[in-house]
Amino acid sequence: MTEILNGKVLAKTIHGKAKQRVEGMEFPPGLAVILIGKNSASRLYVKLKETAARDVGIYVERHAYSSKATTEEVVEKIHEINERNDIHGILVQLPLPKHFDTNAIIGAMNPNKDVDGFHIENRKALIAHTPNIVPPIALSLMRLLQASHVPLKGKTAVIVGNSTIFAEPLIELLRDAGVPATFIPKHTEGLAAITRAADILIVAIGSAHCITADMVKPSAVVLDVGANKLNGVTVGDVAPNVIGHAGFLSPVPGGAGPLTVEYLLFNVIKAKEIQERERE
Ligand code: GUN
Repeated sequence: MTEILNGKVLAKTIHGKAKQRVEGMEFPPGLAVILIGKNSASRLYVKLKETAARDVGIYVERHAYSSKATTEEVVEKIHEINERNDIHGILVQLPLPKHFDTNAIIGAMNPNKDVDGFHIENRKALIAHTPNIVPPIALSLMRLLQASHVPLKGKTAVIVGNSTIFAEPLIELLRDAGVPATFIPKHTEGLAAITRAADILIVAIGSAHCITADMVKPSAVVLDVGANKLNGVTVGDVAPNVIGHAGFLSPVPGGAGPLTVEYLLFNVIKAKEIQERERE
């Protein structure tokens, strides 16, 4: 039996709490969303985030750029938003079209407005155990793990992914919870043997149904972070035959995705509090 970790239900609770917190504020938190180019997945994610933010009472404005824009133009806009007291969070939807300098754009943000927690200052703070803003995806996966009620101490985790920017904060949070975690790319030799040894398996490779039951330890906690289109349907990186084999599964859709959106809202509220404290 595999217990499904329902991210949608957990997301609803956070959404309600965020709404309550915003209702109690004199001025709403503000979020600027920067969307560059026409990537259809990015447009969909941005829409989901904006709708959820507006529903809790966050003021949202979108700054859309064509893929012909320049890094300098976007950096200038970020500098302008950094100075505004009505915008507390800046979200730059990734990935950016090829010729944009992602590091320069993320680095241009005031770290206290970086609601994705990608800025080097926020990454350093997490490693130094003085977290400021933590990436929503990492918060979401830790919440799903907690929802499994599996005692974490003594367990090991494997993260299969493409991006260290995604894995690094998660490795820190897992380590803090007593779980040593290893990051491995998808094309690692002997991948199946490594994933099969993991008590906690987190997969974010963007490859439909790539992780099959034979690659998973029976009773493992499996968290699927993939979002792929297969015959027009959204599916994860984890194959259907893992259900019935793993102990717990955070599925796609309905797992980490909706929860990550809510932790983004949580970070916007947190960012407002940090900035107000700074201005006092
Ligand atoms: N693209 C895929 N995931 C994310 C995310 O968490 N934040 C941003 N900004 N872009 C993404």
